[in-house]
Amino acid sequence: MTLAAETQSIVKQFEYTDDDVNKGVKEFLRQMDEGLQKDGTSLSQIPTYVTGVPNGTEKGLYMAVDLGGTNFRVCSVKLNGDGTFNITSDKVAVPKALMVAKTAEELFAFLALQVRRFLEKHHGDHFEAHIRRRMTVSSPEGYKDEHVFRMGFTFSFPVQQMGINKGTLIRWTKGFDIQDAVGKDVCALLQDEIDKLHLPVKVAALVNDTVGTLMAHSYGAPGSHGAVLGAIFGTGTNGAYVEKMANVKKPMVGEYDLSTGEMVINTEWGSFDNQLNVLPNTPWDVVLDKQSVNPGLQMYEKRVSGMFLGEILRLVILDLLKNPNISFLKDDNSSTNDLRSTTDIAENSSIFQQWGVDSAILSVAAGDHTPALSLLRKGLDDSLQIHAAAFEDAQAIKSVADAIGRRAARLAAVAIAAIVLQTGKLSDPARKDEPIDVGVDGSLVEHYPYFRAMIHEALSIVDGIGKEGADRIRIGLAEDGSGVGAALIALVAAGMEKNSAGSGEILGELRSTAKAQAAAAVDDEKATSD
Ligand code: BGC
Repeated sequence: MTLAAETQSIVKQFEYTDDDVNKGVKEFLRQMDEGLQKDGTSLSQIPTYVTGVPNGTEKGLYMAVDLGGTNFRVCSVKLNGDGTFNITSDKVAVPKALMVAKTAEELFAFLALQVRRFLEKHHGDHFEAHIRRRMTVSSPEGYKDEHVFRMGFTFSFPVQQMGINKGTLIRWTKGFDIQDAVGKDVCALLQDEIDKLHLPVKVAALVNDTVGTLMAHSYGAPGSHGAVLGAIFGTGTNGAYVEKMANVKKPMVGEYDLSTGEMVINTEWGSFDNQLNVLPNTPWDVVLDKQSVNPGLQMYEKRVSGMFLGEILRLVILDLLKNPNISFLKDDNSSTNDLRSTTDIAENSSIFQQWGVDSAILSVAAGDHTPALSLLRKGLDDSLQIHAAAFEDAQAIKSVADAIGRRAARLAAVAIAAIVLQTGKLSDPARKDEPIDVGVDGSLVEHYPYFRAMIHEALSIVDGIGKEGADRIRIGLAEDGSGVGAALIALVAAGMEKNSAGSGEILGELRSTAKAQAAAAVDDEKATSD
């Protein structure tokens, strides 16, 4: 068999036809409904206790932190009340060792420390005033509500929410694995570490990045109606949408505002169809899953999101390399290679390491329209230490990479289509001819060429949407969901607190810590002067 023929047969296995898309949408709708009826289903359909989307007039200064993948981000956001905002933010890489730490405390102590650094650096006045108040015996009573920053905590992992700032971790995804944290309230874990550092911060809201994306898109680009869906296609993938409360049949424990009759639902669609009723399953998908930290889980995510696409490509490339019947990345003779160079794969090439292929190479492949595929060949050289790949080798890699990317985009369309259909907004007479806004974020939608175009093309063949419906679905890049979106939810939460005991509690806690500290300081002084 020639390399071209072998490549063709692989590409064929990644085909996801119009018929597959329609079957996928039907099954997605079925699993959405199942998730609204009961707990423990593959599409978790988690109620977020957020009961409305903003309209752009919200105002105030809030903090937001974001843990969702490789980085931890801390920001403060000033909402200006006219759809605009000012944001200050710092980002640090989460040390790999902390992603798989023994105890939750190790990770959350690191996060709290970053919050302190941020406050010292960007809000020094506020921070020092707080420390002064804390160190003076007379002033603790002087604490006022506005001295405490309300913070939205974007935590982009599956969490069973019990309230707007309360939720237990169901499972880790995206390479994190700290068993000690599973089943614990992640807001409390962070608040405890913040309190140990005596910071003037209350974790007011727990936010999934998709919920933040939905809120930010509604705030920043509002039509007469907010966005219907916020979605992430990045390292992981997920979506959150606005559901009618009447459709949420499973029991909910926390309190929420009943007046809107709606609630934002975090679908956790990364685990759509874990049972593989309709998802495609090539031999490379099987191997990837088997070798992952969570076999059998996040099966949709493993076919769609950035963390996995590079790995699928890597597994295909390894199989091609092992195939004795084809010439691939080998220097047989000058007819299959450049005249003055020798194809060579470095021994320590990351192609031989699990997760060694960054999905960015798929973007390079998709965007390379040069006649000799020189961009891709340079990419192979720079990032995978595959030196002097022949044109034919690059062509094979491009074909496979494009097929993996196209399948991912068409699968992405399945989720978007199902949610648009579920909301009924396309056929709502009040919205006749109006755009249906979908806010998206993440490396794939930002950097993979034509990802959104491929999604649109697939939407147009979905029963019940068609070309006309697809033209109304406006997929726009959302503004900073984990910053602005989280701040907006912290604002909603602060409003909810006013009507509950919550705000009194946090002030009470701060006052008693301050008193204890001040007393300890006096004791220390005595001890040193004795
Ligand atoms: C997580 C989701 C998150 C998504 C995008 C998934 O792995 O389970 O909670 O929204 O990644 O970051």
